[in-house]
Amino acid sequence: MTISPQAFSEEGPDRLAETARDHLWMHFTRHSSFDSGTGHVPVIVKGEGAYIWDDGGRRYLDGLAGLFTVQVGHGRQELADAAARQARELAFFPLWSYAHPRAIELAERLAAGAPGDLNRVFFTTGGGEAVETAWKLAKQYWKLVGKPGKYKVISRAVAYHGTPQGALSITGIPAAKEMFEPLVPGAFRVPNTNQYRAPEHLRDDPKAFGLWAANRIEEAIEFEGADTVAAVFLEPVQNSGGCFPPPAGYFDRVREICDKHDVLLVSDETICAFGRIGGMFACEDLKYQPDIITCAKGMTSGYSPIGAMIATDRLFEPFRHGTTYFPHGYTFGGHPVSAAVALANLDIFDREDLNGHVRRNAPAFRATLEKLLDLPIVGDVRGEGYFYGIELVKDKVTRETFDDDESERLLRGFLSKALFDAGLYCRADDRGDPVVQLAPPLIIGQPEFDEIEGILRSVLTQAWSRL
Ligand SMILES: Cc1ncc(COP(=O)(O)O)c(C=O)c1O
Repeated sequence: MTISPQAFSEEGPDRLAETARDHLWMHFTRHSSFDSGTGHVPVIVKGEGAYIWDDGGRRYLDGLAGLFTVQVGHGRQELADAAARQARELAFFPLWSYAHPRAIELAERLAAGAPGDLNRVFFTTGGGEAVETAWKLAKQYWKLVGKPGKYKVISRAVAYHGTPQGALSITGIPAAKEMFEPLVPGAFRVPNTNQYRAPEHLRDDPKAFGLWAANRIEEAIEFEGADTVAAVFLEPVQNSGGCFPPPAGYFDRVREICDKHDVLLVSDETICAFGRIGGMFACEDLKYQPDIITCAKGMTSGYSPIGAMIATDRLFEPFRHGTTYFPHGYTFGGHPVSAAVALANLDIFDREDLNGHVRRNAPAFRATLEKLLDLPIVGDVRGEGYFYGIELVKDKVTRETFDDDESERLLRGFLSKALFDAGLYCRADDRGDPVVQLAPPLIIGQPEFDEIEGILRSVLTQAWSRL
C-alpha cells in the first residue's frame, strides 16, 4: 500500500494514530490498549527546548528527555546541520579495518573525558550493544591473558542493561527475561543499593548499607569462584527500580573487591554519562575508576544513534600483538553522521557549560521535588543530578507498597495517562516498587522544576483519592 506524505497531515491526528495502531510495533508496549478501540496511540510530532508537541497540537514538558537522552533539549538547528553536513561529505563508512575522521575525533574526545587510562573506544549503535560488547571483550581478554575460566558476570537486582541476549542476561528484571530463557549462562545477581528498602537495621546508616551491599558482590564472586568471574556490571546511579544512588563508600569497596579478585568493573553509563549526574562520565562524579565504561543515549542527545564501550589500555594490550583481534562489530557502529552529531553535541555542552548548569541547579531540583513528600502517597524522593525517582507507597509509616492489582490500576490504569494529559511526559514504572521517573533535558531551571512539581502534586493527589 502506498500513502502520500500529505495524506497524514490532510486527514489529521486520528489517521496517524490509527495507522500506528495497525502497522507499527511499539517497543515494550501493550498493544491491546490501542486495539480495544478505547486507547489512542500518542503521536509526538515536534520538539523545542524542553517541550514536545503531539499531533493534536498539545504541548508537554519532556520530563524524561525522550528516554533519558535529549540532554541539550529538542530542536537544536546546529545538530541538524552537523548531520546534514556529514551526510553530504561522507554519509557512511564502516569501522571494519578502515576509519573515518569523525569516529577518530570522537574517540579522542571521549578518551580525553574519561578518567584514568580509559583510552580505547569501540563504537556501537546503542547502550545494549555496548553492554554486549563489554561482556564479550571481558571474556576474550581473560582468555588472552591465560585465565580462560573467567566468563561469568555479576549485576544487581532490578537493573536494566539492554535487550541483546547477553545484555538481557545481565539485566536483573525477571519479567523482561522469562519469555527468552534460556539466555546466556553465567550471569548472577546481587542486591542493589535501594536505601529505602534496605534491611531494617541498615536503613538509617547509608555507610553501613553501602558496605553491606558491596560485600554481597564479594560473596557472589567467592561463591562462584574468582577464577570463573570476568566482570561486574553496575550503573553509577541505578535507573530501574527508581534511581538508586550509591551510598558513601560503596564504589570504593567494589573497586577493592574487583582488584582483589581480578574482576573487571564495568560502569554502565548508558543513562548517567553526558551530564545526567553533572560530569561527562558519572564515575568521575562519584569518584571511582572503572575498567570499562559503556555509554550511548546522551552522546548525541538522541539526534542520531550511537553508543560506545571505552576500555583501559590494559584491556587493549593483548590486542596489539600478532594475529590477535576482537572478532566483533556492527555495520552502523560509529556511523559518521552520528559521530559528527556527537561532536557538535559535545561542543554545545562546552559552550553552554551544561555540566556546570546541572551541578549548580541539581540541589534546587531535588528540593522542589522533595516538597512532594508532604503527600501521603509519596514515600521517597531520590536521585542525583537531573535524575530522580519518586517512590509511591500505600503507607508512609510502614513503607507498605501496592499489591500487583493496585499497582496495575494505579500505574498503568491511571498515572501514566493522567500525567501526560496534565502536560508532563515522564514514566510511571513498576519494574521494582512503583516509581515516577524524571530525567528532563539538562537545560531546564526553576520554572520547569516548579511546573513538574505542580503537575505531579495535582495528579498524585488525584491518584491517592482514587485508591
Ligand atoms: C543502564 C542501561 N544499559 C543499557 C541500556 C540499553 O540501551 P539501548 O536501549 O540503547 O540498547 C539502557 C537503556 O535504557 C540502560 O538504561
